[in-house]
Formats: sequence, C-alpha cells, structure tokens
Amino acid sequence: MLNTKSSSPGQLGHLASVNMKALLILGLLVLSVAVQGKKFERCELARTLKKFGLAGYKGVSLANWMCLAYGESRYNTQAINYNPGSKSTDYGIFQINSKWWCNDGKTPKAVNGCGVSCSALLKDDITQAVACAKKIVSQQGITACPMFALVNIYLFGCLHFKDMGKKFERCELARTLRRFGLDGYNGVSLANWMCLIYGESRYNTQVTNYNPGSKSTDYGIFQINSKWWCNDGKTPRAVNGCGVSCSALLKDDITQAVACAKKIVSRQGITAWVAWKNNCRNRNVSSYIQGCKL
Ligand SMILES: *[C@@H]1O[C@H](CO)[C@@H](O)[C@H](O)[C@H]1NC(C)=O
Repeated sequence: MLNTKSSSPGQLGHLASVNMKALLILGLLVLSVAVQGKKFERCELARTLKKFGLAGYKGVSLANWMCLAYGESRYNTQAINYNPGSKSTDYGIFQINSKWWCNDGKTPKAVNGCGVSCSALLKDDITQAVACAKKIVSQQGITACPMFALVNIYLFGCLHFKDMGKKFERCELARTLRRFGLDGYNGVSLANWMCLIYGESRYNTQVTNYNPGSKSTDYGIFQINSKWWCNDGKTPRAVNGCGVSCSALLKDDITQAVACAKKIVSRQGITAWVAWKNNCRNRNVSSYIQGCKL
C-alpha cells in the first residue's frame, strides 16, 4: 500500500474557478468515456517499449515495464484517475501524476517535473509518456514515487510470486473477512475488500515488499506499511499506528491484520490502498465474491 498523506487544505478558490475546475473535470470525464483511446495489444506494446529503449532501462526489465503498465492502465493510453486526497490526477499508460510530473492546470502546488502537459501523456504516440517515465525512474527509482507504488505488487504478480505463507483460497478468504466484520466496514463492501487484497497480495499472508524510497516495508495480505502502521524495528521514523509488530501481520490467523486494516480505513479511507484505487475503484468487483457461500 502507499500511505496517502493528505495535503494541507488549500485556499478556497472563488466560485468561478471552482466552476471552471468542475467543467474541466467533467470535460476530462466525458473525454475518457467518449474517446476510449489507444488500448495497446500486449505484444504490440512490448515491442513499442523496446523500441523506445525501456528494456533494461535503469535495471528494469521489459517484462516489468509491461507488468507495471498493465497494473497502472491496462495498456490504455487514455486512462485517467483522480486522487481526491492530493487533488491530483494520474494520466495515461503509466498513470503519471499531475502533482509531481505533468501540468494539467488544475492541480494545487504542482511541480511538473517532466515539463510536459498532462494531456500529452494520453496520446496514442507514447513518446512523451515514455520520456517522462524514464525521468521518474531515473530520479526516484522504481518504487519511490506514487506512480510506481504498484510495481511491488506487480513484480510479485509477474515474477516473484512464490509459494510462501498461507495463500487463501478466494471464497475461504471472503468468508473469513466477513466473519471479522469487514463486509460494509466503513462503507466498504466485501467484494471491494477482496479486490483490494487480491491487488495487494494475491491473498497471500506472507507477502513482504521493501520500498527503497521510504526505507519501509509492506506486510501481509493488506500490504500494511511499516512507516505508518506497524513496527518492524528497522524503519526510520516509524509511527506504528496500529501498535502491532509487522511480523504479526504475516500470520495465517489474520485477526491482527484485519484489526489494523480497520484502523487504516477508519482514518484514511479505502483510497489509502493504491491497489484499490488502481484496480477496484469504479469497477464491477462482484466477481471477487461470486459463487462463494458466505
Ligand atoms: C457486475 O458483474 C456481474 C457479473 O460478473 C453482473 O452479474 C452484474 O450485473 C454486474 N453489475 C453491474 C452493476 O454492472
């Protein structure tokens, strides 16, 4: 997961500018619905990325870039996702963020590190999107920045998904979560919790992922972060919001993991989980509990 720190409250814009923003957002929404954009075929995209020199770029293999692009956008150049927490938007095939990397003219305190218009990152021609992705990975490494937060998961999903720990069977996990009272907890349906967990850990209790940027580690089925929520004795300036040892979040018995997830969702909402934002939000998630005798 990525802890979404809420940005400081901005000044209230006057009505006209609020309306402008609303129009802009509406415009983008309409655009993203009306124009489906280029949905790359898998091997076509792999060839394109290779042509642009991404294979092995900064040590990241082509397969990993593919996995990342799949996780972020399902290979769709026109994917747009708004993040209410930071009032920023993620654009395009790599879901590049308007707070740090591109300019969409509506994101508070935006930096535009790539010196590019966000709309340019939605083009069928991915030249500029690739150039910006290269800059991001050069400056921050692959796990340091929000846009690449999913890479951990997808590295796991694609490459390193090995045998360790308890791998819940889907319906078994759904029943277990329900028993723990997660169905509807903080307004989040059981199917959404299942989707979130699938995205974070593939239902595997022993998944750990190290984030070099923050020198923290994500633990267990919910990929709970050691900087904010649990104590692993090695994360700088850790907070331990759940008052729990991180290793307790890897147990087959998920009692403590669920208790901590409840605390997180109560404080930060479900958007604290990047995997949920990217894979579950505004999607039909019913299949995650389909056919389960709950
Ligand atoms: C969601 O998908 C299921 C099939 O997986 C379908 O039965 C259901 O009607 C869909 N719901 C919506 C709101 O589209």
